[in-house]
Amino acid sequence: MSRVAVVTGGIGGLGTAMVKGLAAAGRIAVAVDYNGLKPEAVDKWTADRKAEGFDIPVYLADVTSFTSCAEVCKKIGEEIGLIEILINNAGITRDSMFHKMTPEQWDQVIKTNLYSVFNMTRQVYEGMITRNWGRIVNIASVNGLRGQAGQSNYSATKSGIYGFNKALAQECVKKGVTINSISPGYIGTEMVRAIRADVLEKVIAGIPAARLGEPSEIARAVVFLTDDEAGYITGEDITINGGLYYH
Ligand code: NAI
Repeated sequence: MSRVAVVTGGIGGLGTAMVKGLAAAGRIAVAVDYNGLKPEAVDKWTADRKAEGFDIPVYLADVTSFTSCAEVCKKIGEEIGLIEILINNAGITRDSMFHKMTPEQWDQVIKTNLYSVFNMTRQVYEGMITRNWGRIVNIASVNGLRGQAGQSNYSATKSGIYGFNKALAQECVKKGVTINSISPGYIGTEMVRAIRADVLEKVIAGIPAARLGEPSEIARAVVFLTDDEAGYITGEDITINGGLYYH
């Protein structure tokens, strides 16, 4: 069924694989990304997708702002259709050992990774429960499960997602709406591949699968959790990390 699926951070490393996966699964995939991006970057992304055979609209917003999220969801609703699938994927890191962490580093990460989940979900949730169908997937991280030195801000936001999901799952499952998370390990996005070769080698040596994950391996789980037939899976987390950490 052609349901509208919105992916925040949709033109980033994992987001790109997600919108492509959702479009290939027959969804009307829409990317929402940061309104501070250079227009050339957005144009290039759109052209690259076209060259691959994907026609994916990009809408710009700031997920840290409730008003901006309200505006973009309204616009997508009017121009594309009602949002039935939401993937809260936008996220940033501002790493620092805690004794040096600034209030700005704390604030930016909490606002981008966690406020965003409220800001976006709140716009689409009432429509979903009213229509008795919806799928929400929040992208967490292995470092939200196990913690990571230098990432107390980031780990706090990612594990915050689990509590949010478990609470909301209880409110909405009888309304046909599910909410789950995916916790990726180290995935071979540009950002991760840009890590200094010797450091990256050490990271990979610590992964039982002995390789980085592929963005498409995360996208596959997004497609699975948002399937029409996934209505009995809720409040759950799928860890995809090559055996790095279990829960
Ligand atoms: P990325 O940096 O390639 O993509 C993130 C996207 O979010 C970017 O396109 C960026 O423009 C957008 N964004 C940032 N701030 C925004 C804002 N205020 N408003 C709207 N959009 C905003 O990162 P990547 O690797 O694709 O990560 C996606 C998600 O997956 C993040 O939540 C990240 O924490 C999570 N993750 C990634 C892992 C990896 O190995 N790449 C591992 C575990 C989790």
